[in-house]
Amino acid sequence: KAAQEAQQRGWHLYLVGGAVRDLLLAENHESLLLQDIDLVVDGFHRSADVGAGVELAARLREIYPQARLSVHGEFQTAALLWHKDPEFGSLWVDIATARTEFYPYPAANPEVEASSIRQDLYRRDFTINALAVRLTSPKEGELLDFFGGMLDLRSRQIRVLHANSFIEDPTRIYRAVRFAVRLGFEIEPQTEEYIRYAIESGVYDRLKLENHPAPALTTRLKAELHYILEADYWKPALRLLADLGALRCLHPTLVLDKKLWWQIRCVSRWLRWLDPENLLHHWLIRLEVLLSAIESSEGVKIATNLQLPKDSLERLEQLKTIEREVNSALPKCDRPSEVVNLLRQYKLASLILVAIRSSINIRRTIWHYLARWSQVRSPLDGNDLKAMGYKPGPQYREILDELLAATLDGKIGTREEAERFLQD
Ligand code: CTP
Repeated sequence: KAAQEAQQRGWHLYLVGGAVRDLLLAENHESLLLQDIDLVVDGFHRSADVGAGVELAARLREIYPQARLSVHGEFQTAALLWHKDPEFGSLWVDIATARTEFYPYPAANPEVEASSIRQDLYRRDFTINALAVRLTSPKEGELLDFFGGMLDLRSRQIRVLHANSFIEDPTRIYRAVRFAVRLGFEIEPQTEEYIRYAIESGVYDRLKLENHPAPALTTRLKAELHYILEADYWKPALRLLADLGALRCLHPTLVLDKKLWWQIRCVSRWLRWLDPENLLHHWLIRLEVLLSAIESSEGVKIATNLQLPKDSLERLEQLKTIEREVNSALPKCDRPSEVVNLLRQYKLASLILVAIRSSINIRRTIWHYLARWSQVRSPLDGNDLKAMGYKPGPQYREILDELLAATLDGKIGTREEAERFLQD
C-alpha cells in the first residue's frame, strides 16, 4: 500500500536500515518477525515535497485507521504504530523523507534538508545498515548497495561509512558494539581505530554527564545503555565496551577492573535467583553497579542527568549510608533473628548492592537473609492466637515476633512446638 501511494505521487519508496540487514541475514524469511521497519521516500521535484514522508504516513493512516500516527516535523519523519493489531501484530513503521544531515558541531542534533537516497544512506552508521530495497517501480525489488554493505554482511564486518561517524554521533560506539556482539560480527580494524580516536579525542566530554549534559544525546545514550545491559549478550558487550574505553561515556575514571567485573556478574546471578520475574529491572541495577563504582561520588549526579527512575536514584543516594549501617551492625548479630531484625528495614535491591561491595562474611549473611531467613514465617498467625484464647490487641505483634524469632533461631518448627513455646 505504501509503495502504491508513493508511486501515485511520483515518488520512490525504499525499505532501509535494520530490516534490510535482518532480511538479508535471515536463513528463513518466513520465521523473521519484523517489528520495526524504516521506509524512506525520495524522488520528488518540488520543495513542498520535503514533507513527503509525513504526507505518505498520513495517507496510510487514512487507509489503516487502527494505526497510531505520530509526526516529528523537525526531522520530516512520521511513525505509524500498530499495537497488538490482529493483522500486523506489533509493528512500528518509520517513514522519512530522504535527507542528509549537517552537524553544526559534533554531538548536536542533526539539522535536516531534503536530498537523495544515496546521501540519505551515506549519513547512516554502518555499511550493513546502509542498504536499501526499492519498493516502487521501475526496478522494484532492486537492492541498493552503494557502500559495500553486502560484502560486509558476508564477511561479518561492522564498518563505518566515514571517519567522523563516531565524532558526529558517539552513541554509534555503543551501536557498533551492540551489532558486533548480537550478530557475531567483528568491528573492522579501521573502524575500531576511529572509535578509539573518537574516545581519546574526548567525544564524551561533550556529554558532561556529571555536569550539564546535552539532553538529546543523554537520552540516546541511556537508550543504548538500556539496550546493551538488558540484552542476554550483555556480558560480552560490556567487556567489549570496556576494552574500547567506551565506559568513559559515564565518567572519565570508570574502568571495568577485576573487582567491578566480578561485582556486576555477582549482582546478576543474585538477581536471577532472587528476582526471577525481573521486577527490579536487572539492566538498571547493573547500571547502578557501574555508577556506584565511580570514586568521586559523582555517580548520583550522573544517574540524575541520565534521568534514571526515582527508586534507582534513591538507592544510589542511600547506598553509602546503608552500607555503613549494615557493615557496622551486622557483625554484632549472633542469631538469624537478629539479622532479620536488622535487615528487614532495607529493600532487596539495596541489600544486593551492599552485599557485593562488602566482605565475604557480610555477603554470606546477607545472602542467607535474602534467600532463606526473610521467607521464614511463624507457625502460628493471628487467627491461631485468637483460637487459643489470646485477646486481640497490640500484644499480638509482640507474640508473633517472638514466635518468628524462635522459629528463625531453630527453637521451634511445628505448630505444636509453637503452642508449647507459648504455654512455657
Ligand atoms: N541509524 C544511524 N545512526 C544512529 C541510529 C540509527 O545511522 N545513531 C540508522 C541506521 O541505518 C539504522 C537505522 O537508522 O539501521 C534505524 O535505526 P534503529 O531502528 O535504531 O536500528 P536498526 O538498525 O533497525 O537496529 P535494531 O534491529 O537494533 O532496531
